[in-house]
Amino acid sequence: MLAAGLLFACAMLAACNPEQSALHPAGQDAAELANLFWFMTAGGALVWCIIMGSAIYAVLGRKRPRSERFADRFVFIGGVAFPTIGLAALLVFGLALLPNWAEADTPDLQVQVVAEQFWWRLGYEAADGSQVATANEIHLPVGATAEFVLTSTDVIHSFWIPSLGGKMDAIPGRTNVLRLTPTKPGVYRGVCAEFCGPSHALMAFPVVVHEADAYAEWLETQRQPATAGNGEAFIAAGCGACHVVRGISEAGSVGPDLTHFASRRTIGAGTMLLTPANLADWLVAPSHIKPGSRMPSFATLPDAERQAIVDFLLELK
Ligand code: CUA
Repeated sequence: MLAAGLLFACAMLAACNPEQSALHPAGQDAAELANLFWFMTAGGALVWCIIMGSAIYAVLGRKRPRSERFADRFVFIGGVAFPTIGLAALLVFGLALLPNWAEADTPDLQVQVVAEQFWWRLGYEAADGSQVATANEIHLPVGATAEFVLTSTDVIHSFWIPSLGGKMDAIPGRTNVLRLTPTKPGVYRGVCAEFCGPSHALMAFPVVVHEADAYAEWLETQRQPATAGNGEAFIAAGCGACHVVRGISEAGSVGPDLTHFASRRTIGAGTMLLTPANLADWLVAPSHIKPGSRMPSFATLPDAERQAIVDFLLELK
């Protein structure tokens, strides 16, 4: 039974996706949280073993009379001293891990995050000080402290990248701040961690942690206007009413900025991988793929026009 339980636990842990696992830390805060988890788990396991051992001894052990003094001492040590010292030690360990941002240095970069049903509006500051709008995919330089400035336009969401650290709510009318310092380059997965409506579970985002040079290159590319050629079909179908493609159509801002859409890994905020077939499906039935999505269906467009939009979007590198 115990062996089966252990085997099951190992299988569960092995199945955990390291891209989105608080137990595969790739950031300073995540490493501290993982340490806290293992320390608390070990502490809890030790206490459990001592109590179960005592219980088993009480039931199966040799019955012989004990002095009253022994009984008093046993109750005092086991019932008062041990829990007080044990819990105090765990509390002190936990409190020491609380972040102290008031005294921390200024962050290396700031990312504006607006959570919306059901996607992430993102803003970066470019090297020249200009604001760069993007969406649904976060890029960070390794070893730098990023400050996420979080808010929401509709309901409460929560911003969580388990591999990098703890979560923070995005609340309408309020601004919350979360700092994270990635320590390992790689691709991770962030999620919305507060139930926010029918597509709460489809409100994710890839997180790409680069070396500093590659990050600067990415940011510079994002700053540039779109380089794709023909946006005719996109504009004719009215996509520009909701989406900005800088340099081509800059009026609408209801939906995600698509200026460098084809550089992203997913569509629908982590819902599907960005492939030509998935993109075509998305244009036909967005609210079927992602319930509650405000993106209208373009199923009634002639196939050729829809394909022209897909081709245009895939050029937006
Ligand atoms: Cu947004 Cu859950």
